[in-house]
Amino acid sequence: MRILFITHSFNSLTQRLHYELTVRGHEISIEFDIADSVSEEAVSLFRPDLIIAPFLKRAIPESIWSRYLCLVVHPGIVGDRGPSALDWAIQGGLKEWGVTVLQAEAEMDAGPVWASARFPMRPVRKASIYRNEVTEAALQAVLTAVERKSAADFLPERVPGQAHALMRQADRAIAWSTESSEAIIAKLNAADGFPGVVDELFGQPCHLFDAWPESELKGAPGSLLGRRETAICRATVDGAVWIGHVKRQGGLKLPATMAFPEAYALPELSLADCWKTPAQTWQDIAYEEVAGVGFLSFEFYNGAMSTVQCRRLTEAFLWATGRPTKVIVLRGGSDFWSNGIHLNTIEAAESPSDESWANISAIDDLAEAILRCETQLTVAAVGGNAGAGGCFLARAADFVWVRDGVVLNPHYKNMGNLFGSEFWTYLLPPRVGEEGARAIMRHRLPMSAKEAVELGFYDACLPAPGFTVDIARRAAELAAAPDLAERLVAKQAKRQADEAIKPLSAYRDEELKEMRRNFYGFDPSYHVARYHFVSRSAHSWTPRHLARHRDLDWKIPE
Ligand code: COA
Repeated sequence: MRILFITHSFNSLTQRLHYELTVRGHEISIEFDIADSVSEEAVSLFRPDLIIAPFLKRAIPESIWSRYLCLVVHPGIVGDRGPSALDWAIQGGLKEWGVTVLQAEAEMDAGPVWASARFPMRPVRKASIYRNEVTEAALQAVLTAVERKSAADFLPERVPGQAHALMRQADRAIAWSTESSEAIIAKLNAADGFPGVVDELFGQPCHLFDAWPESELKGAPGSLLGRRETAICRATVDGAVWIGHVKRQGGLKLPATMAFPEAYALPELSLADCWKTPAQTWQDIAYEEVAGVGFLSFEFYNGAMSTVQCRRLTEAFLWATGRPTKVIVLRGGSDFWSNGIHLNTIEAAESPSDESWANISAIDDLAEAILRCETQLTVAAVGGNAGAGGCFLARAADFVWVRDGVVLNPHYKNMGNLFGSEFWTYLLPPRVGEEGARAIMRHRLPMSAKEAVELGFYDACLPAPGFTVDIARRAAELAAAPDLAERLVAKQAKRQADEAIKPLSAYRDEELKEMRRNFYGFDPSYHVARYHFVSRSAHSWTPRHLARHRDLDWKIPE
């Protein structure tokens, strides 16, 4: 089928549907929902058999839905209607939720139902539910709906519904003096990553994000108890919560201590044995050891890795290499493995060029530490999405095992034609060939986990259910393998041979020479692209690599 996506943006759900429908032989083109006239033009150029709206913020115009079958992905159960569907479900503490694919009509979310899927809720952030449960359920429901459309004899059913209102900040407001930590975290989770909860810190209005439970610290409800790295701890009636990110009025979403330097006057609540605390608390870098395997997790918000975070993670990694283990597994965070350098902290810096340079140098130091590790075999366990430099940083490990369903964006071009670093010029060609490396870099579209393994970019694609257990089992097997010592010797020999041909420093210098041009040169594309990315600027046109119907050689199908 020829399927047109009309969508607010090419977000991770849209990326996943794009890939899954393409591999099933459908021809997909995309138009961002900018103006009715633009969507109408896209429809007349593409003449789709079906229109899908994976992620819309407003209704499809009648001029389109009255002439074409338009299927809308609604992040709510059958009968649920209206905005803030997930927000209400999370804040209300519902145990089960779902996705419905329904036909667009005049009344929002009230059209006949083509397919639906349900899932159990987890007590996590909205963005996490969206990227995981909602995405899987939406995929299942969209595939069913597409099959039903092909079958031609399916009659979608009309169901009675209940419309709810847009959740306002008044509904989200936190009463620090009366509400429990659990209720406060539910409110913050329901608003994360957008729009956050309006509140005050240091007497200044701001939006709060990135909440974590604290099981030991206590204090006067609402008072600020202290800080740890980038997060601030605030007391509740029955304990405390950590706030990792905030957005000041007119500002960017930033690590809390960066948005409010006043936080540095608070007591520092550092962890006694950093990286190894079992208590429920805020800990962005954590380490545990099981059966000869060290597991290093880095729970960085949105997978963005600032200069300081890269340095701390390098320190943690080097510390882990000194442990009596055979294998180190780099686990990343629960939602993202890594999305590369931290574009928000760069944007907020006094000199974004200097901060970009510091950040890329720090992430390269981390990649180099992984590449130079001689004492253990290293595994990148990519259980969450990864983008740009994050995809190549994972490749610095000896093995990359990726969870099926993960969306990868292994290219830098979308960020103002960045050349990229993280040793991709060293890591990619031996695995995918020179032309393969160029193709990956040129390709601006997402890649699925399976595709990454088929290309030889990553090593294994493991089923989503049981991924964590599977990783632990495979890593333990590696650690216990009788040929481990030989493998380590072979790894060292390979590194030395590669170094003799061309030192790592030469790859790094060449890449950074290009990056210097991106950061400090005449062409401002990277700075412009970064500004629009961090400001979440609305799109004013659809990139040509997505809107295939706007290709110069596109012919109106007969
Ligand atoms: N720095 C700072 N924030 C980042 C980030 C980065 N490198 N990558 C992602 N984010 C943030 C987004 O701003 C967004 O923030 P929000 O909480 O305000 O919504 C959130 O992560 C989710 O990103 P989003 O783009 O909505 O997710 P997605 O799954 O739809 O898309 C990517 C994933 C990787 C394609 C996209 O986030 C991206 O292009 N990131 C930039 C990667 C990059 O160029 N890194 C720098 C070069 S190494």
